Amino acid sequence: MFDGCFFADTFGIPDIHRGSFATYVEKGGQISYLDPMMVLPLMARATKHLGLGATLSTTFQHPYLIARMLSSLDHLSGGRAAWNIVTSATELEARNFGLDALPPKETRYDQADEVLEACCALWSSWDEDALVLDREAGYFADPAKVHYANYEGRYVRTRGPLAMPRSPQGRPVFLQAGASERGRQFAARWAEAVFASNNDKANSIAFYDDIKARVVAAGRAPGDCLILPSIGIVVGETESIAREKAEYLHSLADPEIVLATNSAMLGADLSKHKDTASLAAAQGNQGIKGSQDRVVQMMKSEGISFAEAARRPRGLVVGTPSSVADQMQELFEAGGCDGFILWPTVSPLMFEEFARMVTPELQRRGLLRTAYSGTTMRENLRD
Ligand SMILES: Cc1cc2nc3c(=O)[nH]c(=O)nc-3n(C[C@H](O)[C@H](O)[C@H](O)COP(=O)(O)O)c2cc1C
Repeated sequence: MFDGCFFADTFGIPDIHRGSFATYVEKGGQISYLDPMMVLPLMARATKHLGLGATLSTTFQHPYLIARMLSSLDHLSGGRAAWNIVTSATELEARNFGLDALPPKETRYDQADEVLEACCALWSSWDEDALVLDREAGYFADPAKVHYANYEGRYVRTRGPLAMPRSPQGRPVFLQAGASERGRQFAARWAEAVFASNNDKANSIAFYDDIKARVVAAGRAPGDCLILPSIGIVVGETESIAREKAEYLHSLADPEIVLATNSAMLGADLSKHKDTASLAAAQGNQGIKGSQDRVVQMMKSEGISFAEAARRPRGLVVGTPSSVADQMQELFEAGGCDGFILWPTVSPLMFEEFARMVTPELQRRGLLRTAYSGTTMRENLRD
């Protein structure tokens, strides 16, 4: 009964931590192995309702290719494609795409606006009724209903039309995770779901209210943009089983790989920078604001130093099916979210456990569907 899934993705092996990729390689850090655009069509064949999301970068990928890939996925999946829109946040990725340096964040978001405008122009280049498929008359499609996109921006240009009829959803579902001032503005204009990463209830509610107000100011309805905090769940048949599992998982989280991961996400070598002032001076154009906010929030709520918070694994929701459901329900009813993104503590076991134990509990409470109402990801997400 999940709405969808998506692959987080980085185009390279992080080597910010201690100036090397050694920790990531030795300890098996989070690296994107297979290209999601190759994996998702296979997943489309094995699933019926699940939304299928890929992370694609507006800084490194051209809108024509993005529009073509996602439109193909939407056709192949019968309308289940989603795009996790990222501007990318590391110098190492810029190097992999032949750039001398990562452009400043403001420029990346300005370019992202243009990439989205260009993609939308391409996705609209075939009218919904352009495809005729009249075999008797030998009439494939109506040329009057296919248009040039003629998109001319400052950063990107594309003529179109896309060489493909309109896909079932017209365009993929837009996911986004920017948390900086400029990232929030971008979300307000484009995102249909925002991937949030706040650490606690008060911060989640503040984030929720801020994004919804910006969505309304951008001329959209609050329900047009869903706020989905990410949570990691450890569920057990009893509280003590769940706690034991969580303790075991925490014991496996090597502080060095946690630090290396945070170095990659915050965009500076955290073995050297022990406070936010020194971090800011070292980041340059790098760094994911939402990930930094999460570490700073943990530092404040636990009363620990920044250096300590950067070595702590992310918080987990731990409990029985009913207490996990309680915690999810509490944040939802307090106005801190519209739903959740589950990041896997153990993959795929955590998703199976969630479906087996927590899903029935949420359904019993009327908080989760018991059947899909739509066929496309957008229909199900908005249901
Ligand atoms: C929870 C979360 C998940 C993200 N996932 C990715 C990802 O998979 N790939 C990527 O290149 N950027 C990812 N980002 C980075 C954002 O998409 C964005 O480009 C970056 O955070 C810079 O903007 P910001 O400072 O406004 O957040 C993620 C950010 C957050 C907060």
